[in-house]
Amino acid sequence: MRVLDLIIKKRDGGILTTEEIGHLIAEFNKNNVPDYQMAAFLMAIYFQGLNARETTAFTAALAESGKKIDFSSLGLAVVDKHSSGGVGDKVTLVLAPLVAAAGVPLAKISGRGLGFTGGTIDKLESIPGFSSRLSVEKFVSLVQKNNLAIMAQTERLIPADGKLYALRDVTGTVENISLIAASIMSKKIAAGADAILLDVKMGKGAFMKNRDDAFHLAETMVRIGNEMDRRVVSAVTDMNQPLGFAVGNVLEIKEAIAVLEGEGPADVETLSVLLGGHLLALVGKVRNPEEGQEELLRLLKNGVALEKFKQLVVSQGGNSSFLDNPSLLPQAKFVETIKTTISGYIHEIDARKVGKAAAILGAGRFFKGEQIDPSVGIVLKHKVGNYVSEGDVLAYIHANKEDKLKAALKEIAGTFSFGEEVPEGFPLVYGVIPPFPS
Ligand code: URA
Repeated sequence: MRVLDLIIKKRDGGILTTEEIGHLIAEFNKNNVPDYQMAAFLMAIYFQGLNARETTAFTAALAESGKKIDFSSLGLAVVDKHSSGGVGDKVTLVLAPLVAAAGVPLAKISGRGLGFTGGTIDKLESIPGFSSRLSVEKFVSLVQKNNLAIMAQTERLIPADGKLYALRDVTGTVENISLIAASIMSKKIAAGADAILLDVKMGKGAFMKNRDDAFHLAETMVRIGNEMDRRVVSAVTDMNQPLGFAVGNVLEIKEAIAVLEGEGPADVETLSVLLGGHLLALVGKVRNPEEGQEELLRLLKNGVALEKFKQLVVSQGGNSSFLDNPSLLPQAKFVETIKTTISGYIHEIDARKVGKAAAILGAGRFFKGEQIDPSVGIVLKHKVGNYVSEGDVLAYIHANKEDKLKAALKEIAGTFSFGEEVPEGFPLVYGVIPPFPS
């Protein structure tokens, strides 16, 4: 099988066999396919697409490229949750302990933030002592002991995806639904969970900017999961405005703790409970998502989920005194206030601009491996639909460096738009793609 022939076949609109795709990815993983050929192949896929069978074959080939995690020794269905990435998205920090507290083991392998979106690992590592660098053995044993562990993605799990993503990033081939779906699902398959909840974000602060693409991605991933014997449910949820009020690592940890204390923003609580309810139903813990949501709300209000979160942090080396007293967490040196010069209803809070401003402050990274500053970020005072009068505070900017503060203030200009009418606003959830009947 010659790589050149496979590139030409795809370039000309041909359909590749499962063996051809498996061969190409395996050889690429062994460094037997040069980057220039793989880049050409990716561009051929970008223009010609992959059909459903090819996409599943691509996913399976990526998942086979490294070590796979096996939870079969637990004798229980293990679940996982994935978000396609957003701004202020701290749902995992709430949903994971909630679901674990309900008696369903949750094992999550998570990435670090890149660009304007944050990452769960960076948020958790802003708690002094917390470590997400676990061995696979430790990860499995924590899931067995506590029903919950969260670890950082490692090269050993899906090496081919890491290599391929780096190539896509510099060849203009990231934005292809089949490639995105295969990349995400291969990591989920290798991570070993039996049931997976996928939160596909849609809107200005998300990868998927429009409804068609978001639903296409969500449906593609549910289908891949189904074909690979996983139970998968996917929700398309809003990312036009940030979730909650806080954007930035420590700031989001504080907000997640507030939610687990029953005093957090309504959108974060509602979405965490709603998505968690679907996961409980997916593994048959409850009869339907509504029953699951009722149970999770109970575990949130009685403090059991907060205790589970503390157990997660302490089991992975974190210092629990920071959770008992979140004001001890690292704090930024300056807090600058942004005030409105206009009165009216807030029509828009551009999530992308808020995410980018937070990244400029140091909360995110512009290139892989960049050091982040855990304490900086933005805390909004309002949501879309609120009425503000001239001089009211719109947001607080937490910064450590004056030059970064200046640059972030420049970026955030134009984030808010106002009108005289009550805006339509954005629903929290656009739709749920249920698991395909087996
Ligand atoms: N996230 C991934 O893991 N892979 C992609 O291709 C895009 C987003």
